[in-house]
Amino acid sequence: MAHDTRELNRRQDHFTGRSDIWLFGYGSLIHKVDFPFLEARDARIQGWARRFWQGSHDHRGTPEAPGRVLTLVEAPDETCVGVAYRVTPDVFEHLDHREKNGYLRLTIDMTFIRPPHQGRHANGLIYIAGPNNAAWLGPASEAAIARQIARSQGPSGRNDDYVLKLDAALQDMGAEDPHVAAIARHLRASDSSHAHPSADREY
Ligand code: SIN
Repeated sequence: MAHDTRELNRRQDHFTGRSDIWLFGYGSLIHKVDFPFLEARDARIQGWARRFWQGSHDHRGTPEAPGRVLTLVEAPDETCVGVAYRVTPDVFEHLDHREKNGYLRLTIDMTFIRPPHQGRHANGLIYIAGPNNAAWLGPASEAAIARQIARSQGPSGRNDDYVLKLDAALQDMGAEDPHVAAIARHLRASDSSHAHPSADREY
C-alpha cells in the first residue's frame, strides 16, 4: 500500500446520511487539535495498544530520515485511552491530508469514561496505520525508538516534541501509557534538546 492514503480514505463511505460523527484520537490528535469539533470527551477503546512503529516522512521526519509516530496494534487484553471528538464530515478533508502517511480510517467502538456519559458507547472513526503500509517501520526496543526520535524532525517540528507533549497530555488525563512514558523517559534522560534548532510548526 502506498504511503499516501488520501484517495483510499476518500473512497470509503463513512458519512452517508450523517451530519456528525465521533473521531477517536490517541496520538497527535490529542495534543494538536487543529480542527473544529462540536464536543470532546475522554474515551477508551478495547483491544488496541499504542506503538511508535509508524514512520513519519511528512511531519516529524523526512523521506530520507523518517521519524517515528504512533499507530495502534492489536492487543486483545489492552485498553487505549484517548479523546473522542464529535466532528462534522467536512473536517475529514483536513484530517485525511494530515494523516495521509499510511493511515486508514476504520470504524471503531468507543466507550466514554467520564460522567455524565461514563460507560456509554459510540461507534466512530479512527486513523490506524497497519503493517502493510509503505511507511511502516515496525518494532524496535524502546531505547532504539527513542534514539531515532531524538535525532528526527520534519516540517511539523521535532519528533521528541510529539512524544513529550503526548506524554504530558496523557498524564493530565490520568491515562499514562507505559510505552509512551518509557520513550519519554529515555528522551528526557538523553536530553536531546540541543540536537535540533527549535521548530514546532504544524501537527
Ligand atoms: C491519532 O492521533 O489518533 C492518530 C495518529 C497521530 O496523528 O498521531
